[in-house]
Amino acid sequence: MADLNTRYLGLNLKNPLVVASSGLTDSVKKIVELENHGAAAVVLKSLFEEQILMEADYRVRKAEEHGELFVDYSETFDYMDVHIKQEELGNYLELISEAKRSVRIPVIASINCRSSLEWVDFAKKIEKAGADALELNIFVMPFGMNTTCDSNEKAYYQILSKVKAAVKLPIAVKISPFFSNLAKVIKGLEEHKADGVVLFNRFTSPDIDIYHMKSTVADVLSTPVEMATTLRWVAMMAKRVNMDLAATTGIHSGEAVVKQLLAGATAVQLASVLYKKGPAEIGHILSFVSQWMQDKGMETIHQFRGKLSQAKSTNPEVYERLQFMKYFGDYK
Ligand SMILES: Cc1cc2nc3c(=O)[nH]c(=O)nc-3n(C[C@H](O)[C@H](O)[C@H](O)COP(=O)(O)O)c2cc1C
Repeated sequence: MADLNTRYLGLNLKNPLVVASSGLTDSVKKIVELENHGAAAVVLKSLFEEQILMEADYRVRKAEEHGELFVDYSETFDYMDVHIKQEELGNYLELISEAKRSVRIPVIASINCRSSLEWVDFAKKIEKAGADALELNIFVMPFGMNTTCDSNEKAYYQILSKVKAAVKLPIAVKISPFFSNLAKVIKGLEEHKADGVVLFNRFTSPDIDIYHMKSTVADVLSTPVEMATTLRWVAMMAKRVNMDLAATTGIHSGEAVVKQLLAGATAVQLASVLYKKGPAEIGHILSFVSQWMQDKGMETIHQFRGKLSQAKSTNPEVYERLQFMKYFGDYK
């Protein structure tokens, strides 16, 4: 039998398959089921600042509908905001501690943040609740016409540094590919002591409905063709930074998992494929990886991880633009 054990963020994983932060991990029941199907770890659904504020707003409107008139709206909103935040946060901490009591696999908490101020104290509570690690899902929209790349990137480092100073938990930073120099940013995260980086978050994309003339959102779930950007960057950064690389987006099959490991991923995060096919797909993917390893005479993941990273590949230019130009040059 192939040995699928690996280490991610200093944690022992029985295999490289981690269930990505999403609604798939928002209850203990679902987490237990994922463990039963072979998941090696779960990342809890992110706690979103906006989500909490939106709910506060919703409850204020609901209260108004029921004729509860507030003398001072702004003060009430402040009060409810704080109150609801506490409730949301309390539920999240409860989810962490109950999940820890119910499963043996690591439970990684996740915070969606844009500023370093809001969440730092909460990270301490996450640690106290028993989470094994914390994923910081950071996205600062790089859109300011007058802001520089440096100031945008600095926000990421500041958040990371403040959280690192507050907790001992291993920290992974989940980022998007939207940077002008990704390699420098990933290196910068390493310099600011990230234990791992998750490449890449996938956002709901905008779309336009030309028949109803309105803006909409594109599919919430990914397709396998979306994996290429992740594969490229995992391959380019593996062996060049001294931290774990978790691959996410568009990984839908055992073949895709093997490709990411060959590129140099330490762990592979899955969401869309499990939404589409259910948690039993984890077992199918693991069987494929295991069989592939046996066919190739590989006993451990360590033997082939990063073998086709850019640093190790005999065809390194495949990950860069050169190959892209050749491809179009030959395409008549
Ligand atoms: C319904 C849904 C909810 C998600 N919620 C979160 C979230 O709360 N935090 C986060 O970091 N990523 C979230 N994601 C992104 C996933 O963690 C994952 O990175 C992304 O879907 C790409 O992986 P996939 O191609 O396997 O779906 C969500 C994805 C989906 C489909």
